[in-house]
Amino acid sequence: MTGKLEFIDLKSQYAALKDRIAERMQRVLDHGQYIMGPEVAELEQRLAALTGAKHCITVASGTEALLIALMALDLKPGDEVVTTPFTFAATAEMIVLLGFVPVFADIEPDTCNLDAALIEAKITPRTRAIMPVSLYGQCADMDAIDAIAARHGLAVIEDAAQSFGASYKGRKSGNLSTFGCTSFFPSKPLGCYGDGGAVFTNDDALAQAAREIRVHGQSARYTHTRVGVGGRMDTLQCAVVLAKLERFEWEIAQRKALGARYAELLTDVPGVGLLGLRPDRDCVWAQYTVFVERRAAVQAALQAQGIPTAVHYPRPVHHQAAYARYADASDCPHSVSAGERVLSLPMSADLSADDQRRVVAALAGALAPRR
Ligand SMILES: Cc1ncc(COP(=O)(O)O)c(C=O)c1O
Repeated sequence: MTGKLEFIDLKSQYAALKDRIAERMQRVLDHGQYIMGPEVAELEQRLAALTGAKHCITVASGTEALLIALMALDLKPGDEVVTTPFTFAATAEMIVLLGFVPVFADIEPDTCNLDAALIEAKITPRTRAIMPVSLYGQCADMDAIDAIAARHGLAVIEDAAQSFGASYKGRKSGNLSTFGCTSFFPSKPLGCYGDGGAVFTNDDALAQAAREIRVHGQSARYTHTRVGVGGRMDTLQCAVVLAKLERFEWEIAQRKALGARYAELLTDVPGVGLLGLRPDRDCVWAQYTVFVERRAAVQAALQAQGIPTAVHYPRPVHHQAAYARYADASDCPHSVSAGERVLSLPMSADLSADDQRRVVAALAGALAPRR
């Protein structure tokens, strides 16, 4: 019960899958097709089947997935994309990088996901797309967002970097809108051992565009029909993800059970606010995030007991220097407030019940009023 805990325990996962990972990687080293080898198509088929999407296109990272999806939509400079400011910067970053304008709508204060009820007020004649983020592993209200998009003729890109494996009304995250984009960053619910990501869509033309953009816009070798990027996922990284799929269903079930146990243990701890969960969807807990006051002191107290924590994210994107010009600082107050209070606790499929109790006891101690 003592010693330092891992924030995300990738070592236990590796120990469980070591032989499968070695076998899979060895096969790539033997055939030598390091770029666009057979594992790429194999992984794309497996992930398409897992999500139910017609097309899966693996790409170099979650950031690249967002970039390629946005490029495939063929927007014009100055076109607007409505999104949440309470996310990792990559969401807004790709919008700005392409010369589009991020328009921030606030989050639901309890789930921290884009509030569908606030989107329509942000739509202008320049709006072309909505980009919700399924934060912490729980989908945003995608049906409500898709309905708004349909009314206004907009595309929807789900940033599913944190929610691969999650379900929404019986359907899978990544396959809930025009495009779904995920990340295989090592700490994500499904991770590789470097950078990787994937784009999902049911639209044949958009899938073709994404496939071409991934390889410098080529529709055939040295035939550049559109502007693209070098955005492929390495064959070796695809092999790692294929090996990890062996116990992915177990890991997802485990993550959900760990989330439920954290909630049960934390219910009676004064000073801890739990993330709101909607009954029509689940959460795969990319991070197990709670709300606390006096966060820095709480983090220091936990750290002193060998319990690492993290903050996802301390400041919303519109409070970052690079994006401040796209909104007033006073906009999106729920995002600002969440940024001051969110705290992520250790979470990974191999976390033990004893370690969870240790985390909760330490948190309760840190929050107890001092005499
Ligand atoms: C919400 C969100 N979007 C995008 C990304 C970018 O993914 P990657 O790190 O694979 O580029 C991340 C990863 O941290 C993320 O959490």
